[in-house]
Amino acid sequence: MTYKIAVLPGDGIGRDVMDAAKIVLDKINLDAEYLRGDIGWEFWCKEGNALPERTINLMKESDCCLFGAVTSKPKEEAAKELIPELRDKGLSYFSPIVGMRQLFDLYINMRPCKAYKGNPLNYKDDIDLVVFRENTEGLYAGVEFHPLPQDVKNALLIHPKMKPFKDVPNEDIAVSLRIITRKGSSRIVKAAFEYAQKYDRKTVTVIEKANVLRETSGLMVREARKVAQNYPGIELLETNVDAMAMWLVKNPQNYSVLVTSNLFGDIISDLCAQLTGGMGFASAANMSDTFAVFEPTHGSAPKYAGQYKVNPIAMLLATKLMLDWLGEKGDAENVENAIASVVKEGKVRTYDMGGTSSTLDLAKAVAVKL
Ligand code: IPM
Ligand code: MG
Repeated sequence: MTYKIAVLPGDGIGRDVMDAAKIVLDKINLDAEYLRGDIGWEFWCKEGNALPERTINLMKESDCCLFGAVTSKPKEEAAKELIPELRDKGLSYFSPIVGMRQLFDLYINMRPCKAYKGNPLNYKDDIDLVVFRENTEGLYAGVEFHPLPQDVKNALLIHPKMKPFKDVPNEDIAVSLRIITRKGSSRIVKAAFEYAQKYDRKTVTVIEKANVLRETSGLMVREARKVAQNYPGIELLETNVDAMAMWLVKNPQNYSVLVTSNLFGDIISDLCAQLTGGMGFASAANMSDTFAVFEPTHGSAPKYAGQYKVNPIAMLLATKLMLDWLGEKGDAENVENAIASVVKEGKVRTYDMGGTSSTLDLAKAVAVKL
């Protein structure tokens, strides 16, 4: 069967690293049709939509999606860059990757952070973490208010802790809702335990802040305990997110599979990425039960766009995650081994690793080993 893969390079260095991924995919000769789609800043400015409907349809026709990176800017800045015809239409910019995660219910954001041997950027050796970040709810559900509508304020005032904010003018208060559901918590923890079972990992650490966020983090932790009962050989560790940031720096090798809600996962996964080489090494799989989007977790770094300077390894590892998800285990393993071997040899290195090789040189060095 020929796979249909939606390829969304996006903007900035998204295009540079996608070219690198193509070199590797062509070398392994994956039986696939690549459908290129429009996404990113250019389409926001021209069409008022960074994730056009046609791209969503293209994704729906595909088996899965490879995504590069897109530029995001805060509200006012984004509005200023719209073409004049689209200004004053009340359009508001949203991050297309966050949009895709919600639209396709990609509730798992899996982010492996492994210290490949010989990587000069490793913080310590023997780090092999896999972060499971809940990807559709929590503080990134996008339910935010400013100014605060009076009826929302009235509803919130049934909570005694809202009292101190009662007389703050609505224009002077912004509110975000941290929405945590039982289903959302249960299924992300289950995904983490399933992974632990499949790859023979001994612990799963749930990272929350249940001592303060008693209801939201509390629900997540209580669900984690329930799920853990179905996996007798795997220990559930419970930590608070602040302490965990410290422990991950102190003893990263003591942890294995980590699971947490959306915002904490965003933060903790950058920390784990930096322990194992930084954003140039950090890949992610956004997955539902039927569809998936694979991406490097770095941004679009506009200042490097088109220079073929940045490290493509994050994108190549995202490609490896895609091969795994498609069931092409042999290819996935070969791609990872080829990357590991290029890193270990240390002859072809991009600037972040202290070298002078280009994005495409590195991809070609990986391809030579395939
Ligand atoms: C990530 C990124 C995104 C996020 C941004 C680009 C919206 O930081 O994938 O971690 O916050 O989820
Ligand atoms: Mg992030």
